[in-house]
Amino acid sequence: MDKELVVVIDFGGQYNQLVARRVRECNVYCEIYSYKTELEKIKAMNPKGIILTGGPNSCYEEGAATCSPELFGLGIPVLGLCYGAQLMSFVLGGKVARAEVREYGKIEVDVDNSSALFTDVAPHTICWMSHNDYIAVMAPGFRVVAKTDNCPVAAAECVEKGLYAIQFHPEVLHTVEGSKILYNFVRGICGCGGDWRMDSFVEENVAAIREKVGNGKVLCALSGGVDSSVAAVMLSKAVGEQLTCVFVDHGLLRKNEGDEVEAVFGPQGNYQLNFIRVNAQQRFYDKLAGVTEPEQKRKIIGEEFIRVFEEEAKKIGAVDFLVQGTIYPDVVESGLGGESAVIKSHHNVGGLPDYVDFKEIIEPLRNLFKDEVRKVGLELGIPEHLVFRQPFPGPGLGIRIIGEVTAEKVRIVQDADAIYREEIAKAGLDRGINQYFAALTNMRSVGVMGDERTYDYAVALRAVNTVDFMTAEAAELPWDVLKKVTSRIINEVGHVNRVVYDCTSKPPGTIEFE
Ligand code: XMP
Repeated sequence: MDKELVVVIDFGGQYNQLVARRVRECNVYCEIYSYKTELEKIKAMNPKGIILTGGPNSCYEEGAATCSPELFGLGIPVLGLCYGAQLMSFVLGGKVARAEVREYGKIEVDVDNSSALFTDVAPHTICWMSHNDYIAVMAPGFRVVAKTDNCPVAAAECVEKGLYAIQFHPEVLHTVEGSKILYNFVRGICGCGGDWRMDSFVEENVAAIREKVGNGKVLCALSGGVDSSVAAVMLSKAVGEQLTCVFVDHGLLRKNEGDEVEAVFGPQGNYQLNFIRVNAQQRFYDKLAGVTEPEQKRKIIGEEFIRVFEEEAKKIGAVDFLVQGTIYPDVVESGLGGESAVIKSHHNVGGLPDYVDFKEIIEPLRNLFKDEVRKVGLELGIPEHLVFRQPFPGPGLGIRIIGEVTAEKVRIVQDADAIYREEIAKAGLDRGINQYFAALTNMRSVGVMGDERTYDYAVALRAVNTVDFMTAEAAELPWDVLKKVTSRIINEVGHVNRVVYDCTSKPPGTIEFE
């Protein structure tokens, strides 16, 4: 295959998938490999360029992630980022040391526009730095092409050998001209033509899934959310009748959602998914009774989910593969994406039981960000109103009810959320806000209704804007919309006497409450 490929070599940094994503944005195909991958294997792929990512180590310490010096003599352009830049310098005879001043955050950098890396980049530009070590002396044969007040080698190049090193992170949005710098590398220096598109992703993945599955049977966990719907339709395209989609109504869905999902994906809908709906509401409520700790709730919901699947799988005979709509942010935040800490164990990633009745898990969206999943959805011909649906977490309302989950609390939060969504849509704000929902706090407080004292729950409204769901800002909703929603919830939903709006960004908050 003569497809143009850029290889990203992973040294365990936080932003590795972002690097891959920025390369894809340049319409160039890329794949990520561990730094432990043999050089021969990388050579055999015949990449047009290689990018070395950041990482948590100090390259001069024993046992630190490293690479062979030969990597830099293949005649293939190599770009080192942060740790990758330090490693390039270190391996080729430069000096890397602990910096006197640790740089973290947005820093002004002076770039030399005569470098092909910085074509059309402003001479003074803001970049995102995050490093303890720095390149004290660049390896022989290199020329310094960017610096900051505290970093004498913010970028360097050895044009004859096609080697480029950047201490900052062009892949992070805070680096104002980062995308341009990566574009300059992959399209300019590596000479990639930029003919890769998302439809190629769909075609390649459909073909790869078909080959992997062979004659096997596939079971898909369909929740009706964007991710699992896209995964299910992709699988259906790949293996048709061999796919069975099981939709578990765990009683923690939004108001009327079970019926809506069935209407679209069930036998009356437009897809061939062998759709099975399991009404397991009471089973989940029983398991959750008396449980208040968020991680425990997530675990219970996740495990029960898998149990239900196992039971369905047994009913339909041997099943070889289980499909999940895991996307990249789920992977990272569940601590499976390298060195990052576990924030929440997203149930569709972490909660696999010890005993699994499936040969293998297929996660076709594992490397994609949410907006990329939507693009794939459109490529697959899924209607826009489904593709642009806001995300809904696997554990559903279970993590939007703080504390113990009961059927009564589910009813309250469903009704409040339905009103909130209805008013947001009426105000024409639904496509402008990335995620919004009502949650039920565990707080009860005193109010007055008519002439009576009340002692009831507080509903919290949340609305956030975000690009990748890894960071988010609270949306500034118009006051009249908030007033209307508040008044309707208090008048129409029993046992609620207070409505509050959550102004917290992520970080320090998370989007969901648990
Ligand atoms: P947080 O609350 O972690 O949410 O800031 C980030 C995004 O992930 C969604 N989310 C989940 N999705 N299973 C999922 O499928 C989960 O367990 C889960 N927890 C959070 C959340 O709705 C938001 O879009």
